[in-house]
Amino acid sequence: MEIDRRAFGRALVAPLAVLPALASAQPAALKALVPKGWLIGVALNQNQSDGRDAVAVELVTRQFNAITPENLLKFQSVQPQPGAFTFDAQDRYVAFGRDRGMAVIGHTLVWHSQTPAWVWASSDGGLADRATMLERMRTHITTLVGRYKGRIRGWDVVNEALNDDGTLRDSPWRRGIGDDYIAKAFEFARQADPSAELYYNDYNLATRPEKRAGAIRIVKDLQQRGLRVDAVGEQGHWRLESPTPAAIDQTITELRATGLKVMITELDVNLLPTAGPRGQPPAPETNPYVNGLPEDVQQALARYYADAFRVFLKHRDAITRVTFWGVSDGDSWLNRGRVNHPLLWDRQRQPKPAFASVANVLTTT
Ligand code: XIL
Repeated sequence: MEIDRRAFGRALVAPLAVLPALASAQPAALKALVPKGWLIGVALNQNQSDGRDAVAVELVTRQFNAITPENLLKFQSVQPQPGAFTFDAQDRYVAFGRDRGMAVIGHTLVWHSQTPAWVWASSDGGLADRATMLERMRTHITTLVGRYKGRIRGWDVVNEALNDDGTLRDSPWRRGIGDDYIAKAFEFARQADPSAELYYNDYNLATRPEKRAGAIRIVKDLQQRGLRVDAVGEQGHWRLESPTPAAIDQTITELRATGLKVMITELDVNLLPTAGPRGQPPAPETNPYVNGLPEDVQQALARYYADAFRVFLKHRDAITRVTFWGVSDGDSWLNRGRVNHPLLWDRQRQPKPAFASVANVLTTT
């Protein structure tokens, strides 16, 4: 029997011919779509950086080129007791990013939250004096930044130092050390790793012009002191109503005018109304999307993200990184006992219309 070579060839080709179709059904990778030089990042929880959440690991590996630890590098995770540094899970987080050629971000060195009380306490139970608190700050920064010298790309050195009106927050760091606690943190970080990028990070910079002005004052003070500071991070915990694209635009322009780069460091879009009292089950009207997101809200979210990314692209030379605060809706800190839908992937780890709209803006703008 003669083999019909052409038919045989067709039989081989036919199944292959469907492959491009399958490949295009696979979602595009954000990291392949962003402008050259941009980092597109995501915050990882410990299940993810430890590799237990395999589906998320696959998604993150495919989509992103930068990671931030959601909690692991905060003061209370690293040094819960004086001098008792823990680095096991932290080392795995850094290895996760390095193994994949990602930019590994450090978050965060000096913050009023998720910091153990001993850091600010004197032996009599009051507030520690300036010298003592500075020494604790120096030890923490030197040990942590020094350990990952050359491996962590950049650090959120000081987080959330401002009130919404732009004045300095009454943080225990400030009460113990004085206003220059911010400058000191940047000084110690620079000494610990001269080649690491150093950032000032805060929220509501796009929604509150007075707070933005406060961030700019902090940056200028650091610059006047001759200290290294590379970027301002606007966390980007946003809502559909605010900030508007015009406010985001204005924010990036003003922050960039300091000469620094601008990063959106913790992007998510909260779709829920303000929560009721803590510790009580949520009232149904404050938790409206338990059974999924209605199509109109889904589309509104997609439009909001598209508009935001259009503004980011307009400022493509000012922006160096955009990081989402969580992989999928189920991972988000914004759930807190309710059902929120703030990110690009849903609870089944499927891309939402917002993913497609961001990918589309990145492809077509
Ligand atoms: C949040 C984490 O996502 C939560 O898991 C944790 O319980 C509280 O902190 N601003 C920041 C982040 O700089 O570190 C916060 O992360 C969210 C607000």
